Order: sequence, then structure tokens, then C-alpha cells
Amino acid sequence: MTNFALLISPAARGAYFADTHAVARQEASGVAGVDLGEIETIGGMDFLFASCGEARLADLMRLSFAQGIFRVDGPNWQPIEASAGFLLHPDFVSGEKYRGKTNEMLTQLLVNIALQEADTGNDALRVIDPMCGRGTSLFWAMRYGLSATGIEQDPSALNEVRRGLKKWTKLHRQKHKLSDGWVQKSNKKGIGKYLDFQAEGQSVRIVTGDTVQARDLLGKRPFDLLVTDIPYGVQHMGGADGARSPLAVIQKAAAGWAACLAPGGVMAIAYNCNIPKRDEMFAAFDGLGLEVLERNVAHRMSESIVRDVLVLRKPT
Ligand SMILES: C[S@@+](CC[C@H](N)C(=O)[O-])C[C@H]1O[C@@H](n2cnc3c(N)ncnc32)[C@H](O)[C@@H]1O
Repeated sequence: MTNFALLISPAARGAYFADTHAVARQEASGVAGVDLGEIETIGGMDFLFASCGEARLADLMRLSFAQGIFRVDGPNWQPIEASAGFLLHPDFVSGEKYRGKTNEMLTQLLVNIALQEADTGNDALRVIDPMCGRGTSLFWAMRYGLSATGIEQDPSALNEVRRGLKKWTKLHRQKHKLSDGWVQKSNKKGIGKYLDFQAEGQSVRIVTGDTVQARDLLGKRPFDLLVTDIPYGVQHMGGADGARSPLAVIQKAAAGWAACLAPGGVMAIAYNCNIPKRDEMFAAFDGLGLEVLERNVAHRMSESIVRDVLVLRKPT
């Protein structure tokens, strides 16, 4: 075991605010084979200390808050070349700015927690985001070398994502294939229309539709990870009926989401635990045979939003 100091990106405060240290520790605690130490602020920089073998460094660099890593030997600190090994340019995740976009670090944390907890035994993992917006989680998945599918009710998402992809593939000379089609009979509302993006040996698909219909929109092949950031009941509407709280949609969608998961698959769902409350959120998934995993990453974003993540696993 070697001692390392992981530099916490100052940008993490923009995602986790005053709770940055607690969230960072909680996220890092899921990396197997690592003994975590304290977080210390030295010279205005925050470091998380850890002991592990060199083979764990890529996993540490994949943590959402990680900016860099030092080998620590008493007072001698050596910055080291440790790559997270991500595919695609980061602009595919961070380049587009739009109303309602989920913070990229938080999205990466969801992917990490789901990966840490999943145990499906599959080699090529598949990700679903059943409320995917413009696809922050889907492009993160592709950066991790995973294929991903998203469902979004707003029909304008497909064209906006297509526009963004054309820009970033051109700018970064990214080899790719874009195509579209229907998962069901074409219709005026665009329900079931999809956009496919293939690059780096992976694929991202965004399907227009209501997440309550997830089973019909996704086909039968199960997913290993379900990663999503549901509406906060504040900035955006909860569902097609215009309700402020997203709870009604989640209650209707929960069984379909659970059915999409392979045994050992994990859901990591970010939500504002003011709307709906934590126990209401738990209750929506009650009786579906899912195991609740305690990964407390609650962080206050504003007076009305305390974001937390519900982590559930389908038994193997
Ligand atoms: C917090 S946003 C997710 C943003 C996304 N992670 C991103 O970065 O682009 C929640 C999304 O859920 C979508 N949504 C709400 N109700 C839905 C439903 N019933 N079916 C599908 N999508 C829904 C909203 O349109 C919104 O885009």
C-alpha cells in the first residue's frame, strides 16, 4: 500500500456546496481496495488522503471531484500521471449549456456509485436514464466505455442533442455515426422516435416518450445501471400533467424501471429530498423487491433544494 493525496477540484463546490468534503468521502468510500484517510486543507487546497496499490489509481481519478493525485512520502509529495482513461472529449458531457442541465460532477457521481454497487456479472454494462434531458448521463456513460439509452418526454431534445453532437464531433474530429428511427409506429407526437449516436465502440440512444412507458420504449434486454436526475419540483415541471412534485410520475414509473434492471443491477436516482420527501421516495419503490443501499450524499444546493441520491439494487 502506498500513501496518496487526492486533490479535490475547486469546481466540486459548485456541485456539492458546503457538503463537498462529506460527499467526496462518501463517493470515495465505494472504491474497493482503498483505505481512506482524512480530508485536509493545505495551502488553500483540499486533499483526501488514501492508501492503496497503484492499480487503484485510475478508479480514484474517476471520482467526480478528483483533479489530480500525489504520491506522499512524509513531507515529499510527487504529482503522478494517473489517467482516468475516459473516452470522448469532455465537451460531449460539459460543452452544451441549457436550462435544467444536471451538474456534470453530480452525474458522474451517480455513474460511479451505480458502478461501485452493481453486480450483474455482465462484461459490457448497459445504462438507462429514464428522464435523460439532453443526455448528460448518457454521454458520461459513453466516456466510461458503456452503452446507454435515455428516455425524455420533451420532443425538442432529439434535435437539440443532434445539433450539439454535430458541433462537438466536427470540432474534435470524433469518428461517429448518427441515425434515427422509431421504436414503434411513427406518430405525430413523436412518441418512440429515437436518435442513435455511435462512437468509440459504444452507442447512445435517446428516445422521446413518457418514462411511465419505459418497458414499451426500451425493449426486453435488461440494463445494468439506472442513473437519473429527476425534476426538482422547483425549476422544472414534474411531469406531463404539469404537477410540481415529480412523485406521481415516479410512483407510476417505478415498477417499469425496476423491471428494466438485470439481477444485481443498481439504480442511482438524484432527487430534491424536499419534494418528494425521502420516505415518500422510498415508498414509491417499496414492494418491488429492491434492496436499499445506504450511500448518504445529501447536499444542500439552495433554500429549497437538498439533493440526495436514492440507491437501490435488484437482488441477484
Ligand atoms: C432534472 S432534468 C434531467 C436533466 C438531464 N440529466 C440533463 O442533464 O440533461 C429531468 C428531466 O425529466 C424529464 N421528464 C419529466 N417527466 C418525464 C416523464 N414523465 N417522462 C420522461 N421524461 C420526463 C424532464 O423533461 C427533464 O428533462
